Parts: sequence; C-alpha cells; structure tokens
Amino acid sequence: MLTYLQQRPRRLRWSRTLREMVRENHLQIKDLIYPLFVTEGKDIQNPVESMPNIYQFSPEHLLKEVERAYKLGISAIILFGIPKRKDPQASSAYDPDGAVQEAVRSLKKFFPDMLVITDVCLCQYTDHGHCGLVRNGEVLNDETLEVLSKVALSHAEAGADIVAPSDMMDGRVNALRSALDNRGFEHISILSYAVKYFSAFYGPFRHAAESAPGFGDRSSYQMDAGNVREAVKEALLDVREGADMLMVKPALSYLDVVRAIKENTEVPVAAYNVSGEYSMIKAAAERGWLEERSIVLEMLLSMKRAGADLIFTYHAPDVAGWLREEGM
Ligand code: PBG
Repeated sequence: MLTYLQQRPRRLRWSRTLREMVRENHLQIKDLIYPLFVTEGKDIQNPVESMPNIYQFSPEHLLKEVERAYKLGISAIILFGIPKRKDPQASSAYDPDGAVQEAVRSLKKFFPDMLVITDVCLCQYTDHGHCGLVRNGEVLNDETLEVLSKVALSHAEAGADIVAPSDMMDGRVNALRSALDNRGFEHISILSYAVKYFSAFYGPFRHAAESAPGFGDRSSYQMDAGNVREAVKEALLDVREGADMLMVKPALSYLDVVRAIKENTEVPVAAYNVSGEYSMIKAAAERGWLEERSIVLEMLLSMKRAGADLIFTYHAPDVAGWLREEGM
C-alpha cells in the first residue's frame, strides 16, 4: 500500500549535491583564526606536551608557521606571548621588545594582509599568574586597567590590527578604547573576550602559555558556568564601552551562550574552541577512538550554526587543508 505523505524531508537528502545546496550553515576558511604562542629568545620550537602539534615558537620560527597558515588561506591569527621575566606588575607585558611586539612587527612586514590579533592579558607576565595586579591576595580591578592599557598600546605601536582583552576586569574595553584613541589608534579594533567563563577547558593552554595561577583560581573574575543572562549583560556592557566584536569562550559547552549573544547584539560574534576542546579530540583520535577530520568539521560547523561568525581554533591549519580538499 502506498502511503500519501505531504512532506518527505528525505527528498532533500538523496544526493550530495542537493544536500549541499540546501545546507543552511557553512564553515569557511575565512571564518578561522589560528592561535599561536610566541616565546622570547632565538631558535626555539618547543612542542606543547598537552596539545599535540602545537608549539611555542620564537619569533623567526613563528614567521614560518604563519607562512604555512597563510598559504593555506588562513587570514587571521592571534598571538599569546611567553616572556622570560615575570614580576608582580607584569612589566614585561608592555616591553616594546617583548616576544609579541617583536613578532607583530616582523609579521606585518612580511605578511601585511594577514590580520594580526593580540591577546591582551597579564597572566603570562605576572609572577603569581593572575590576569590582574594582586594586593593582599585580591585581584585588583581598576589598577589593572592602567597596565592593560599600556599593553594594548604597545601592541598597537608594533602594528597589531586588533587587540583582544581576555582578563575579565570590569571596564577594560572602555579603558583600552580611550587609551588607543588618545594615541591616534582609533582605527585599531577591540575584540573583547566579553563572555569568558571560569572553565576547566583551559587546562592545556596553561601549560602552553605557562600561565597557571600560583594561588587560588580565576573564579573572582571569570564567569560562572551556570549563567547565560549574565553573559548578555557582559556583552552589552562591552558593546556600550566600544567593543567592535565579542567573543564567547569556551565554545563547545557554551553554544547556547553563543546563540544568546548573537541574538542580543549587533556586532560580529566569535567562539573560542579552546585548548581542552582541542586536546580531548587529539587524545581520542590518537587512540583511534574518534575520527578526527569528521569530528572537527562537525564541531566547528555546530559553532557556526549556533551563531558564531568567527572561530578561534588550534585546528585551523588542518581544517583549512580539509576544506580546500573539499573545494569549499
Ligand atoms: C588568559 C587566557 C586563557 C586562554 C586565553 N587567554 C587562559 C585562562 O584564562 O586561564 C585560554 C585559551 C585556551 O584554553 O585555548 N589570558
């Protein structure tokens, strides 16, 4: 007996061509931002144990890795610096000859159209490992803003296109915007890590960046994982303070938050596919428990579907290679 069905959704799934034609969301190479660790010194290429295939590069090796990414079609990177010297004031964070500042200068010279984003934070540069200045065991807010402004200015002076504050101090977007504008950097944009959760998913990054806190944790400044309305509050505050783009971080366990930020703001939204998300997949793939390529593409597509315009991911070069193979 032939059943009459008015709707047969499977009709749109019979062929690959048709499926691709009606696909609602796409992952593209231009969506990807590749995070890189740059360390002070010469001839350094240290593998990060907790993140297979990720290295700490000294500036000249970084150039080679950026060239590889550039040739794959990646158009944006974000830099995290690893200094030789740490102190309570994070003074090496705004050293004009620091690893990030030096790397930015040479990157912009050799790859002028590669978009260079710099992470603005203090945790790699403070001897206690917190993202702000500390007094009597407390992370200070307003005093930290002055240091963050110096850091952002030193990055802008080196030639960074976009600064990305990740410290989670209140009012940092406003502080950075006025510092930049006062020095003639009104064209430099701010991509705010507006919605950054207190998360165990950052574990492997802290090995990579040598930035684990020496006492306590980051729960007095990073957001509580149970909150989504507060995420909207943080996002709207940052837009009001002048953020050009917003980030949600981590990504995978927070796709509902990406959606909420997309619906409640009018600026581009980025999702940060963080170190723990990367390493979980790498570890399972190494054991043959997961098929890396399919799972990474599916996961990043889910971030696009949730509303992300941009995705920060350590998988970027692999993904760019796969997307090229698929002709996307
Ligand atoms: C802090 C910073 C962190 C990450 C980016 N910026 C770590 C933290 O807050 O402890 C995490 C990125 C990742 O896990 O991939 N400046």
